[in-house]
Amino acid sequence: MTLRVMLIAGARPNFMKIAAVHRALVARPAFEVSLVHTGQHYDAAMSRLFFEELGIPAPDVNLDVGSGTHAVQTAEIMKRFEPVVLERRPHLVVVVGDVNSTAACAMVAKKIAGIGLAHVEAGLRSFDRTMPEEINRLVTDALSDLLFTSEPSGERNLRAEGIPPERIVPVGNVMIDTLRTHLPRAAAAGTRGRLGLPPKGYALMTLHRPSNVDDPAVFGPLMDAIAEVAARLPVVFPVHPRTRTTLERWGAARGGVPAGLVVQDPLGYLDFLSLMTEARLLMTDSGGVQEETTALGIPCLTLRENTERPATVDVGTNRLVGQDPARLRDAAFEVLAGREKQGRVPEGWDGRAAVRIADALERWDRRLR
Ligand code: UD1
Ligand code: UDP
Repeated sequence: MTLRVMLIAGARPNFMKIAAVHRALVARPAFEVSLVHTGQHYDAAMSRLFFEELGIPAPDVNLDVGSGTHAVQTAEIMKRFEPVVLERRPHLVVVVGDVNSTAACAMVAKKIAGIGLAHVEAGLRSFDRTMPEEINRLVTDALSDLLFTSEPSGERNLRAEGIPPERIVPVGNVMIDTLRTHLPRAAAAGTRGRLGLPPKGYALMTLHRPSNVDDPAVFGPLMDAIAEVAARLPVVFPVHPRTRTTLERWGAARGGVPAGLVVQDPLGYLDFLSLMTEARLLMTDSGGVQEETTALGIPCLTLRENTERPATVDVGTNRLVGQDPARLRDAAFEVLAGREKQGRVPEGWDGRAAVRIADALERWDRRLR
């Protein structure tokens, strides 16, 4: 008998992770795989584009939940997901990452008798409960039967929380599986040339954390510091939909977007990866981008006080600069002056994490029967 596995994806960073897991599972006759998209992200540039580029098949079910407050969005996902699980009766639901879709589907799955739950990217902790993602991580990990960790801190944190060790499986980083698979296509994309930028002659930036972008009193001074960097080196800024309005207001208040700041709509994976590989520097508050820059050995300044991905700082090229505009500007100027952090790639970020997940699921399957 095959193991019926239902994969869940909802928001942009889920798609890179699901792509790798899906590919590894469908290659084996042991699994019958289905895919549910919650519809948390729905713009073509935040969703469909990634399915096309990453070769993920169209989802079997789209819950089409759309946006809302945390409670509304989480509740809507739960309401719409429950009948799907009851009807399709998977043996195992697999959730990835730390978005609202992750925690909502985890709660639904675990309340239905006989359904297992696996979490990919388990155990990451910022120890900052003002972050919505931290709540999602805690809830999901507390409920999961199988916890796949991406870096050593994951296993440490889960053990400290009393999760039975036999449930924890260190597998490495599926985000990096997808990165390695798509590097050749990204290299061929020629995105930098299209934007007229010199190799290693620009910075790339993303910002979307509520703590950075929702309050103009925080966002404005950070953007003023970015404008100082952009006066020395072009800064390409693909803007997350959450950030759009605050950015427009900031630009209008200054009488326009400053020279050197190259504002873009959200980019597809290949264009973004293409730009990242040739950038002098990344500035970000993204979880995934901290990991990708570490895998690529590119300097990364993270505009956060903490990170749930300490491997990127301990061994990788990532530096936390917090929300202090002067610290951000000085750190960026240091990189431009050639004083940059060297790093290496953490163990298990080798392109084979999803294969290890498939192996673990086959073992788990045998134990179950
Ligand atoms: C979500 C995740 C965050 C993740 C980020 C990745 C939660 C709590 N947050 O944040 O962890 O890092 O995705 O990108 O799950 N919007 C659109 N089009 C879309 C999607 C969103 O315009 O396709 C706008 C809507 O105005 C919406 C806002 O963006 O209200 C925020 O979307 P939401 O999914 O709630 O949170 P993100 O900030 O995207
Ligand atoms: N990304 C992308 N286009 C962009 C910005 C980011 O394809 O314009 C990719 C990035 O390379 C990474 C993922 O989106 O693979 C990270 O998602 P995001 O920053 O939205 O979420 P987080 O990782 O912070 O949860």
